[in-house]
Amino acid sequence: MVTASHVAAATTTTLVHRADQAPGWWRDAVIYQIYPRSFADSDGDGVGDLPGITGRLDHLARLGVDAVWLSPFYPSPQHDGGYDVADYRSVHPQLGTLSDMDALIARADQLGLRVIVDLVPNHTSDAHPWFAEALAAPPGSPERDRYIFRDGTGPDGAEPPNNWGSVFGGPGWTRITEADGSPGQWYLHLFDSHQPDLNWEHEEVRGEFIDVLRFWLDRGVAGFRVDVAHGLIKDQSFPEWDGHRTMISAEESAEHAGKQAPMWDQPRVHEIYRTWREVLAEYGPERVLIAEAWVEDDRALARYVRPDEMHQAFNFQFLITPWRAGALRQSIQTSLLELDAVGAPCTWVLSNHDVVRAASRLGLPITGKGPNGIGAGDPQPDGELGLRRARAGLLLMLALPGSAYLYQGEEFGLPEHTDLPDEMRQDPTFARTDGQVAGRDGCRIPLPWRSDAPGYGFSPTGATWLPQPDSFAALAADTQKGDPSSTYELVRAALRIRRDWRLGSGSLAWVDGLPVNERDLLVFTNREVVVLVNLGERAVPLPADLEVLLASGGGDDVDHVGPDEAVWAVIPRPADDDGQH
Ligand code: NOJ
Repeated sequence: MVTASHVAAATTTTLVHRADQAPGWWRDAVIYQIYPRSFADSDGDGVGDLPGITGRLDHLARLGVDAVWLSPFYPSPQHDGGYDVADYRSVHPQLGTLSDMDALIARADQLGLRVIVDLVPNHTSDAHPWFAEALAAPPGSPERDRYIFRDGTGPDGAEPPNNWGSVFGGPGWTRITEADGSPGQWYLHLFDSHQPDLNWEHEEVRGEFIDVLRFWLDRGVAGFRVDVAHGLIKDQSFPEWDGHRTMISAEESAEHAGKQAPMWDQPRVHEIYRTWREVLAEYGPERVLIAEAWVEDDRALARYVRPDEMHQAFNFQFLITPWRAGALRQSIQTSLLELDAVGAPCTWVLSNHDVVRAASRLGLPITGKGPNGIGAGDPQPDGELGLRRARAGLLLMLALPGSAYLYQGEEFGLPEHTDLPDEMRQDPTFARTDGQVAGRDGCRIPLPWRSDAPGYGFSPTGATWLPQPDSFAALAADTQKGDPSSTYELVRAALRIRRDWRLGSGSLAWVDGLPVNERDLLVFTNREVVVLVNLGERAVPLPADLEVLLASGGGDDVDHVGPDEAVWAVIPRPADDDGQH
């Protein structure tokens, strides 16, 4: 029989990660992502808003997170769910006002929650005043130079300046009509054509964003999640490049593997973040920068969080790792080692507003990065399997040292909406790929708060800007709160134990050589907590006399780790042991 002493004996003496003593609240923080349009609606128009968020912040305090990150709430024509910003210093009228934002920050502060906002520096909306000025001014003007305008190629400049594509599909350049009505120059947009890329070679662009940072820092935000942080600097020779990098995968085709794309992760991008870090430092040591950077590997990612750059970067390698013990172990280990090497905390993330929700993604036959959205005609996930794995994945993620990100609704185990009618889809990816790629709407569905209310209590009128799937009824917040078998109570308990045992700043050591079939088992300790995740198809008996703290399968009276389940346990101290060992 395997016992706790086997676990103790099998725990490797080489720590993969040592307890982190460095100061900084973010190093072990659990940060909750709010997608404002879909969190809670206060005024009944079916679109979530800032007062809706403020009214539900106590839910997040009770859940036990440390901070919230708000996806964009700025004025925007919503061609890309708010990531097309028309004014960086204001609030979209449908979502509220600046005073609502002040009230949100104040309420969060009362509840001990920090507020991080999303900064979108790679591109503006085409409704930004700068773009209007660029169109009105002639080629070569300073106004045009805030963006990336080039003459076309071919006869009459009718072909784009080069072959770069948009991440959302289709070409990366759009031709304008000049003020005099003639066919004109082309502008670069690495995303939708309504999102012209800014020219970060232009001093005015740099100055503007420093000013925007200060605007929000002065209002009391704890920091910024920096959108497309790896994209701001382009190779100024604009060489041909036909590699296609999607957002949810850092993979290039074999032909491009190992070659540096001219629009991503250019070395000079780091200068920008050094200047930003200095600005944040003026506001004290507590304000943070978080990189959204889809880069080649953990080493490239670590460059964004060197001591004089950002504080954190999303660990998307972890998110896209297939649900396999070996792959996950490798991924966790590499991330910890690479990030440790620059003195930065690791982050862990399984879901966000750009990827298929983990509870569905992990229920697909191929359990890696998953598709970019799921449509009614696509293979459908196994919901039960997906949820079981998502719950185990949460216990895995929340037991790891570093900082963790939860995406709204992940605490309810929400699945993706996988059969949204095509005409409801709003993600530009859907239109730009002629419907080939379903896109990200399915993970952005308004949250269910009450099972018996219209729109599941998302808004007072029952209106929701995207329809909710029927499966939300059984997963609404009110059905889960107080039910110990619910995902919500699992996450809440995990956050409490994580805090009590200081797992976020703890150490990681693999437990190797247990006399059980280990191929599909991931076992490690973090401080005194033993974490077992079973990625295989057969139940594995729990080492006898381990004291179970939490089990993703439910209950603490468990004697095995079932397939796709995770258990947190402790080795009882001899004094607690009734002298039996
Ligand atoms: C990354 C954001 O997370 C995504 O939602 C957005 O579409 C792109 N950046 C472009 O801003």
